[in-house]
Amino acid sequence: MSQGKVLVLHGPNLNLLGSRQPEIYGYETLDDINNRLREKAVLADWDITCLQSNHEGGLIDAIHTARLDGTQAIIINPAAYTHTSVALLDALNAFEGKVIEVHLSNVHKRETFRHHSYVSLRADGVIAGLGVQGYRAALEAVISAFQA
Ligand code: DQA
Repeated sequence: MSQGKVLVLHGPNLNLLGSRQPEIYGYETLDDINNRLREKAVLADWDITCLQSNHEGGLIDAIHTARLDGTQAIIINPAAYTHTSVALLDALNAFEGKVIEVHLSNVHKRETFRHHSYVSLRADGVIAGLGVQGYRAALEAVISAFQA
């Protein structure tokens, strides 16, 4: 049996990473990010599922699945839904495990509409502005939080 189970969720437009506004989001693709996370998870003997959706409902369905399948933690970059989605907040509120919110860019340095996050009302931790490193830090935090 593995040490734990983590779900990594990526919101809308993050499938375009690497070519989408690289001056803001960097040159690594979503596959690069997910592969690095998978490597890290395997080393720590954690099960990891990485999923991207451009649809609010797709993200919500994945959170509902995580409620029931033994997932201990969700690492989520909700992308633009961060700033708009009460539905995503409600779904995360129905999940009992740990939630870490990640943003590649420092949203607080950007347009004011990006300064508010519905997801932060639920998140146990928030990482913004560290680029892809933020996902790795989030996974490390999850693994160490559940270490015996
Ligand atoms: C983002 C920041 C959001 O404001 C934006 O809509 C995104 C990406 C980030 O990772 O910096 O799509 O979540």
